[in-house]
Amino acid sequence: MKIAILSRNRKLYSTRRLAEAGVQRGHDVHIIDPLRCTIDIASQRPTIQFKKQELTGFEAVIPRIGASITYYGLAVVRQFEMMGVYSLNESVAIGRSRDKLRSLQLLARSGVGLPLTGFAHSVDDTDALIEMVGGAPLVVKLLEGTQGRGVVLAETYKAAESVIDAFRELDANFLVQEFIREAAGADIRCFVIGEKVVASMKRQAKEGEFRSNLHRGGSARLVKLTPEERSTAVRAAKTMGLNVAGVDILRSNHGPVVMEVNSSPGLEGIEAATNKDVAGQLVQFVEKNAKPYKTRTRGKG
Ligand SMILES: Nc1ncnc2c1ncn2[C@@H]1O[C@H](COP(=O)(O)OP(=O)(O)OP(=O)(O)O)[C@@H](O)[C@H]1O
Ligand SMILES: [Mg+2]
Repeated sequence: MKIAILSRNRKLYSTRRLAEAGVQRGHDVHIIDPLRCTIDIASQRPTIQFKKQELTGFEAVIPRIGASITYYGLAVVRQFEMMGVYSLNESVAIGRSRDKLRSLQLLARSGVGLPLTGFAHSVDDTDALIEMVGGAPLVVKLLEGTQGRGVVLAETYKAAESVIDAFRELDANFLVQEFIREAAGADIRCFVIGEKVVASMKRQAKEGEFRSNLHRGGSARLVKLTPEERSTAVRAAKTMGLNVAGVDILRSNHGPVVMEVNSSPGLEGIEAATNKDVAGQLVQFVEKNAKPYKTRTRGKG
């Protein structure tokens, strides 16, 4: 098969591994920087130019669109879809996953377990927001934060009030969430492909920290999932419409709760922690499922 990996950087571990796995399985793999693609939307026949050449003959794309290039990156994925090329994750599903509020609303609607969460842009009633998640301790999250930045634990009611008021003053978008203390600084990353969790790892925060992000000194190891955790992860990915997803779960007293669904989950941490060929499994999924004009949403919605 002729497969395009949409990635800005061919040196990234995930990009490299996907290319390697594709070639190993006999495919013609091209790494394409979406920001260097020119989209022809004016004509009857949708096309994409890359380095002044028209891209033709592709049967599948594997999008690895970073958060910082979501807008243009998704336009490129959408264009491939309009050309009838199969995309491992559809543009609409990736778009959903990039909007934290929308994601949590969709997950809530389909009954996926979530931490009690309240949203606010500029609330006048801080008390109500704090009550909504059951009071302190609680977690306040800036919506545009990643790698644990902008995630604050407020231990007391007073602290919660101060943090919320400060964020409000900055006119920031944030959410307020029940603090899952019993997770004890750990979360679980479930790597979902299709209807299966193919690999999972537990990330443990370093001593004295509640955020398990590897960038904040957390460590990852193998973990055995309960059937409920498995089904929660699969259901979360399915709700978002993602064939491939990294579903982050906290172990709470009231069962597994989903914190986030990532549409471009990294391969490095999970392959290292589990010793599994996750890249190979992704390529196999593409082989089984890629058909022309299979995109369910065709870039709509
Ligand atoms: N409600 C919560 N209760 C307990 N711990 C939490 C809660 N929310 C987040 N954490 C911890 O903080 C870490 C960072 O939170 P989160 O994943 O929401 O933000 P982020 O990593 O900055 O964002 P993103 O995952 O979008 O890059 C989580 O991995 C988890 O260990
Ligand atoms: Mg996170």
